Amino acid sequence: MHLTKSGDLAPTVTRPEPNSDAEGANKMISVRVLCLGLLLVMPCCSTLEQKRPNFVLMMVDDLGIGDLGCYGNRTLKTPSIDRLAETGVRLTQHIAAAPLCTPSRAAFLTGRYPIRSGMGGFHKLGIYIISAASGGLPVEEITFARLAKEQGYDTALIGKWHQGLNCERSDDHCHHPRAHGFNHFYGITMTNLRDCQPGHGTLLVNVHAHIPYGTLGAGVATLAFLHLKGVVRVPRRLTLAAAILLALLVSSFAAFVFVFPNFNCILMRNEEIVEQPFNSENLTQRMTSEAIEFLEKNSARPFLLFFSFIQVHTALFASPYFRGRSQHGLYGDAVMEVDWSVGQIMQTLERLNLQDNTLVYLTSDQGPHLEEISIHGEVHRGWSGIYKAGKSTNWEGGIRVPGILRWPGLLPAGKVIDEPTSNMDVFPTVAQLTGAGIPKDRIIDGQDLMPLLRGEVERSQHEFLFHYCNGYLNAVRWHPDNGSSVWKVFFFTPNFYPENETACFHTHACFCTREYVTYHNPPLLFDLSRDPSETTPLTPATEPSFHHIQEVVRDAVARHIQTLKPVPEQLSRANMVWKPWLQQCCSSLTNLCRCERDHQQGSHFPTQQSQ
Ligand SMILES: *[C@@H]1O[C@H](CO)[C@@H](O)[C@H](O)[C@H]1NC(C)=O
Repeated sequence: MHLTKSGDLAPTVTRPEPNSDAEGANKMISVRVLCLGLLLVMPCCSTLEQKRPNFVLMMVDDLGIGDLGCYGNRTLKTPSIDRLAETGVRLTQHIAAAPLCTPSRAAFLTGRYPIRSGMGGFHKLGIYIISAASGGLPVEEITFARLAKEQGYDTALIGKWHQGLNCERSDDHCHHPRAHGFNHFYGITMTNLRDCQPGHGTLLVNVHAHIPYGTLGAGVATLAFLHLKGVVRVPRRLTLAAAILLALLVSSFAAFVFVFPNFNCILMRNEEIVEQPFNSENLTQRMTSEAIEFLEKNSARPFLLFFSFIQVHTALFASPYFRGRSQHGLYGDAVMEVDWSVGQIMQTLERLNLQDNTLVYLTSDQGPHLEEISIHGEVHRGWSGIYKAGKSTNWEGGIRVPGILRWPGLLPAGKVIDEPTSNMDVFPTVAQLTGAGIPKDRIIDGQDLMPLLRGEVERSQHEFLFHYCNGYLNAVRWHPDNGSSVWKVFFFTPNFYPENETACFHTHACFCTREYVTYHNPPLLFDLSRDPSETTPLTPATEPSFHHIQEVVRDAVARHIQTLKPVPEQLSRANMVWKPWLQQCCSSLTNLCRCERDHQQGSHFPTQQSQ
C-alpha cells in the first residue's frame, strides 16, 4: 500500500519543495514513505542489511600468538584458523587490555579499561578463583551483547564467563551473562581450574607458596625455646586451645580442597546448573554442538555469538579423538581441538549461507601461561613466539594476542595490519555495525576497527595504549602520529624467578604488587618497531629523543588519569572471598552439590571415520 502511494508521488523526489505549509509537510512525509518503500525493494536494501552483520566472536583462553600456523608456527596444525586469516584480516599488533582473564574479558565486553569498571584489582590476585564471591562486572556497565540485543539481535555466550555471578543471594545472578545482554548462556561461570579435572592437582597448592611458613615456624620455635628456658610461661590451656585451633584449620582446609571442584567447577544453561562439577573431557564438543544449534535457530534473524573456549587453559584436556594427535603433547592436542571447533562453526555458517553477512573474530584473552607445567612434569604452556614473557605480565608476550577478522566482501582477504589495535575495539565496532552507536554517557577506550580494516585509513587511532597490571598502570605504548616507531615505556617490570627465565615459576604467575616488581626511574624505554622482543632498553645515549618521549608519555598519563572516576572495587578481598551464602549447589549438601543433567551430548563428535 505504501509502495503504490509513494510510487504515485515519485516525481516529488526529484523536485522537493522545501516549504512549510501543510501540503509541503505531507509531501515530505510521502517522500520519506517512498524512501522506506524503496529500501524494501531496491538493492540498497541488501547493502543496508549487510551493514548489520551477524557476529561470531571467538576467544581462546591463554592461547599464545606463536601457537598458530598463520602467526608463524610450523609444527602445530591449525588449518581452520589459518583459513580464517587467509580469507580475512590478520592483526599483528593486537593487544589485550590486561594480561589476565577477568580484567581482559571485562575490557573486551565493555570496550573500556578494566580500571573504569572496578575490574582491575589492587592486590596480588587479579582474578576470581571462587565462584561464591560477590564481585563481578557491574550491571551499570554496557556490554556489546546488551547493545546488540537492544538492536534486535539474538545473543548467546557459550563457554567461559569469569565475570562474577551473584551479589547478595545465591540466586540474584546480578553478574550473570543474562544480566549483561546475553539471551542464552551455556558454559562455566568461572574459569577452568586445575581442580576441575581429577588428577591435575589443585590450584590451592599454590596457596602454599604464599603462606609465610618461615616466619610462622620461627615464631613458634622462638616461643618454644623461651618456654623451655623458663623466660616465658605459656599456660597449658592456651597450648591446648592453639593445638585445637590448628587442627580445625588444617581439617577445614583439607575439606575445602576436597569440595573445591564441586563448589567451583559449575556448568550452567541459563540460570540452571546442569553439571557440577563439570566434565571437561567432551566440553568443547558439547559447546560446539550448542553453538551450531544456536546458529541454526537464528539463520533468519540477526545474531551475536560469543564463543568463549575453555581450552587451552589448565587443567588441560582434549577429547579422545584429539589426544596424541599433535607433536606438542596435550597442549598441542587441545589447540587442535579448538581449531576443529572453529572449523565446525565456519562450516555451519557456510551451510546456512551466512558466511557473507557474518563478521567473525578470533582472539585470545592474553598470552600463554608460561608457568604451567603439569604435576607430572608435562609442559602445558603455549608459545609467545618472538615476544617476551607471557600471561600476567605486560611484556609483549603477555598482551600481544592473535586478532583475526573475517567478513567476505566487506573486508579484504589475506590482509595483514601491523598498527596497534586492542581487544577493546570490538565493542565500538559492534556498536557501530549493529546501529546502536557508541554510548555517549561514558568513556569508551576502544576504537571502531572498520575504517582500518577496510583500508579507509592507514593509521590506528590508538596513539596511546595504557597497559595495566590489575589496577596498576604498568606501561604505556605510544605510536606517534607521524612516525613508524612504537615506543613502550615501563614504570615497573615483574621480577622473574628464577631470574634467568622470563617467567615467575616460584609463584606460578607474576604479580604486580610492590614486593614482586622492580620500579624504574626513569622508566624503561623500548622501540617495539625495532626491538619487538624488548631485549635492550634505550638510554639517552642510544636514543636522542629519550627525554622528549618520557615527557610526552608523562603528559599522556596525566591526561588519562584525569579521566578515571572512583568506582567500587570488584576485586577487593571482600569481593573475592568465599561467601557461603552465595554458594551454588544443585543437589543437597550431603550429596556434596554434585549433579549431572546436561542434555547436550555433543552430537557433532568427530570420529575416525568422519575425519
Ligand atoms: C609451535 O607451538 C608449540 C606449542 O606451543 C611450540 O612448542 C613451538 O615452539 C611452536 N613452534 C614454532 C616454530 O613457533
